[in-house]
Amino acid sequence: MPKKLAAGNWKMNGSSASASEIAALLPVLPNVSCQVLLCPPATLVTSMKNWTEGSSLLIGGQDCHANESGAHTGDISAPMLVDAGATHVILGHSERRSDHGETDAMVKAKTMAAHAAGLVAVVCVGETEAERDAGRALDVVGSQIAGSLPDGVTGDNTVIAYEPVWAIGTGRTPTLEQIGEVHDFLREALDQQLGAEGANLSLLYGGSVKPGNASDIFAVANVDGALVGGASLKASDFSGIIKALDAA
Ligand code: 13P
Repeated sequence: MPKKLAAGNWKMNGSSASASEIAALLPVLPNVSCQVLLCPPATLVTSMKNWTEGSSLLIGGQDCHANESGAHTGDISAPMLVDAGATHVILGHSERRSDHGETDAMVKAKTMAAHAAGLVAVVCVGETEAERDAGRALDVVGSQIAGSLPDGVTGDNTVIAYEPVWAIGTGRTPTLEQIGEVHDFLREALDQQLGAEGANLSLLYGGSVKPGNASDIFAVANVDGALVGGASLKASDFSGIIKALDAA
């Protein structure tokens, strides 16, 4: 069975002053049974671990290098994220794919590195608006899944996030039918690629998820949670999304 997961991606936001926002979020956690993950910038992973000591909050990075160590200025490896307190890492986010030219092959290598270090990889896929308009959304996410997942993927070490690029940070979301179509397709593709294990991977939707649309999105079949950007920065907004997932 896929686990329910509410994940927040802080992107390049947050500082030591974010401790108060985290303090405001913590009281929600004992009252829900879904998993809750926050992925702050790497500078805050250890701080967030300390701020949330004794709570069930999971902490993740936003990227990792495919190598364990070496001459890669500015990069962070999967074992370093583990050492800093992370259990998860987002890989292949569309902003990494567009800003840093990350290919499916690179995402696959990073996913292998994450698994080797014991991290859960949150692998992101999603089409651009032009690709959707051309009727290619399913083709695009299908080939991203095929190209980004290494051997050995299980429901315990990998989560898939469907994030249509045109819905990220825009306030626009696909219709519930469009979300359902892609999630059903992804479940089928995972079943074909991974056999019975495909049913165990959590499928998150991401792109302009807010407290006001979360319940509707979580009611869609094969949506097991969300990867939330902007709304994860505010405890009040993220709490609403967590509660909506828990109730779904
Ligand atoms: P928004 O929720 O801000 O649209 O961002 C989504 C996202 O990219 C999460 O990874």
